[in-house]
Amino acid sequence: MSFVSAGDHVLVTGSVYEPTQDFCTHILGRMNVATTYFDPLLGEAIAELIQPNTRVVFLESPGSITLEIQDIPAIVRAVRAVNPEIVIMIDNTWAAGVLFKALEFDIDISIQAGTKYIIGHSDYMLGTAVANARCWEQLREYSYLMGQMVDADTAYMASRGLRTLSVRLKQHEQSSIAVARWLAERPEVARVNHPALPACKGHEFYRRDFSGCNGLFSFVLKQRLSEAQLADYLDHFRHFTMAYSWGGYESLILANQPEELEAIRPAGGVDFSGTLVRLHIGLENVQDLIDDLAAGFERLQAGNR
Ligand SMILES: Cc1ncc(COP(=O)(O)O)c(C=O)c1O
Repeated sequence: MSFVSAGDHVLVTGSVYEPTQDFCTHILGRMNVATTYFDPLLGEAIAELIQPNTRVVFLESPGSITLEIQDIPAIVRAVRAVNPEIVIMIDNTWAAGVLFKALEFDIDISIQAGTKYIIGHSDYMLGTAVANARCWEQLREYSYLMGQMVDADTAYMASRGLRTLSVRLKQHEQSSIAVARWLAERPEVARVNHPALPACKGHEFYRRDFSGCNGLFSFVLKQRLSEAQLADYLDHFRHFTMAYSWGGYESLILANQPEELEAIRPAGGVDFSGTLVRLHIGLENVQDLIDDLAAGFERLQAGNR
C-alpha cells in the first residue's frame, strides 16, 4: 500500500500465499488498483505483462503450498529493462530472510512473516520488511502513518529467536531432506515438491540462488483421497499436528484436494489429480517422523482394501 495509488497496476505471482491474493482483491481492488497474476515459472516473459501503470511486481519463491521456485534474476532483469521505477517485492518467508538474500538480487523490498522461523515456536506474531536505500524512506514513512508497530515482548522473542535461527534451520533442512527422500521412494507418492529435490519445479534456480532449505514442503499422492480417507489419514498422526503456522519446532500436516488448489491459482491451475499433503518438518527425531508417515500410508492401504 505504500507504493500504489488509485489507477495503478500490480503484477503478482500466481502461487502467492492465499491471503495476499485476498489483500489484492479486497484492499487493492477497493482502492482501484488492478492486479494481474502471472505464471511463477514465466521468467523473462514477465516483460510482456508490464503495463504503463504497473508500479509493483510481487514475488514469492518458493510458491505457497506447491513450492515452485522462480527464476528471480531473469524476472528482475526483464522488469528493470522495461521500467526501472517499478518496485519489486518478495514474500521471503520461506527463506527466513537468510537462505535467499533478496536485496543482493536487486529486489527492492523483502517481506517476511517473522512469526515463522524468527520466532521459531509459533507463539508470537511478527511481520518484517527490509528495503534498499531507494525504497526505505517511503516504506518507513507509510508504515509509521499506518500505525504499524511491534510490542516489546514480541521484539524480545524475535531477538531471542534470532540467536538460534541458524542451528534450527540446519536441523530443519537435514530432517526435511531425509523425509522428502524417503517419500520420493514411496509407491503411493506421485511427486515430492521439495526445493532441494530435482522433481520440484524450478529446482535448478534453488540450486543456483539459495544457500539452503527449511522444513516446509509438500507431496502429491497418486490417489485422490475421499473425505473419509482424508479424515482417517490426518486424524491419527502422533507427531504431526494439523495447523497452518509453520516455522516452529514442531511438525505439522495439512492436505488440499486439487480443486481447492485450482481455486487459488489465478494464473493457471494445477497439473495433478491426487491429494496434496503439505508438511512442516520440525525438530523431532527424524525416524519418529518417518515411522509416523509410514503408519499414515498403512492407514491409506487399509482404507483401500
Ligand atoms: C509465505 C507466507 N507469507 C506470509 C504468511 C503470514 O504469516 P502471519 O500470519 O504470521 O502474518 C504466511 C503464513 O502462513 C506464509 O506462509
